[in-house]
Amino acid sequence: MYDFDSPIDRRGTDSVKWMAGDSCRSSVWPDVIPMWVADMDFASPPAVALAVRRRAEHPVYGYSMKTEAFCRSYIDWMASRHGVGVERGWLSFSPGIVPAIATAVRALTSPGDGVAIMPPVYHPFRNMVEKNGRTVVEAPLSRSGGRYGIDLGALDAACARSRLLVLCSPHNPVGRAWTRDELEAVFDIAERRDVIVFSDEIHGDLVYEAGRMVPSLALGGGARKRLVAAWAPSKTFNIAGLQASFIVTPDPAIRARFDAASEATGIGSPNCMAQDAVIAAYNEGGPWLDEALLHMRGNYDALAAGLAARVPGVEAYPLEGTYLAWLDFRGVGLEGDVGPEIVERAGLWLDAGVRFGPGGAGFARMNLGCPRRTVETAVDRLAAAFGPGA
Ligand SMILES: Cc1ncc(COP(=O)(O)O)c(C=O)c1O
Repeated sequence: MYDFDSPIDRRGTDSVKWMAGDSCRSSVWPDVIPMWVADMDFASPPAVALAVRRRAEHPVYGYSMKTEAFCRSYIDWMASRHGVGVERGWLSFSPGIVPAIATAVRALTSPGDGVAIMPPVYHPFRNMVEKNGRTVVEAPLSRSGGRYGIDLGALDAACARSRLLVLCSPHNPVGRAWTRDELEAVFDIAERRDVIVFSDEIHGDLVYEAGRMVPSLALGGGARKRLVAAWAPSKTFNIAGLQASFIVTPDPAIRARFDAASEATGIGSPNCMAQDAVIAAYNEGGPWLDEALLHMRGNYDALAAGLAARVPGVEAYPLEGTYLAWLDFRGVGLEGDVGPEIVERAGLWLDAGVRFGPGGAGFARMNLGCPRRTVETAVDRLAAAFGPGA
């Protein structure tokens, strides 16, 4: 029903992904393909574009109030899509998840405190901790047999020195959707070490196998007593530029601390375009998302099959969640920061793994929110640059 394959020219829209920066310049390739920052090259669901157009037609763009319909659309989505009951009173607004991480760090820890993260992980986690004067404590993921996991021993040791854990679920960039057992083990450690968990679930709607996403809000035991869960329609429906996210904190004392820190930043209500867009997305975007997931799963399959057949030295890790493929280039002799070499030799602008911290050297992250043809071209270019006989 929806078109994910016709290319849409995003140049001239101030797109971060498509702006021509130094990192995408190649002396060989005039047309480096941007497959990095995590937004999709697809049109958002038609209902979203309609809602934004309708709102834009009214020429007064003043302050807006957070509406019940806005909150309700998210609550209904969580119930119907994930089978999770969310109470209205648990919700706080944040324009983005990254500002919410910063707010949580300021609200729930003190200067100098440890904040645990599990690298390789989305790089703003580290930045938000360090730029707010706290100390990053690393619990690197484990990797064996072509699969990443949570190193519970390392996590326990990290939590022993931390007040807060910033969890990425599903995990960007390695593509894992954590199982219930894994998440329960994480929350057991958090409880034992008295650590609050900020669970960034921005990719929570982008899990390929039905029922495979386990929202931390669905965990039993005492998980909800130490949880700040962060959700957003931004990745799900490709509306990150509209800046609206939901921070869900069941525990009243933790929520009060988060809200006080949020108020101290002056963050107020959603912008006047965002609410109508979010309501349309959650209420009407489900069929679009189902098709987008099928398309992106197909993109991953095309990439993995193409690499296995034509570039066996580059390994694609399994993709359970997110539309970001995690690729190991060490088998073709690349090490450290692989970004510039991939731009120069293959004309592809990927996110170099080193951005994501320890464990990222020799790796790169490829964004699959694009037409199939883009993935096929990427495989052609990788084969020419790094395939046997290249
Ligand atoms: C794990 C994760 N968290 C947060 C964000 C961005 O959040 P926001 O744009 O809402 O600040 C991203 C974007 O790539 C992400 O991958």
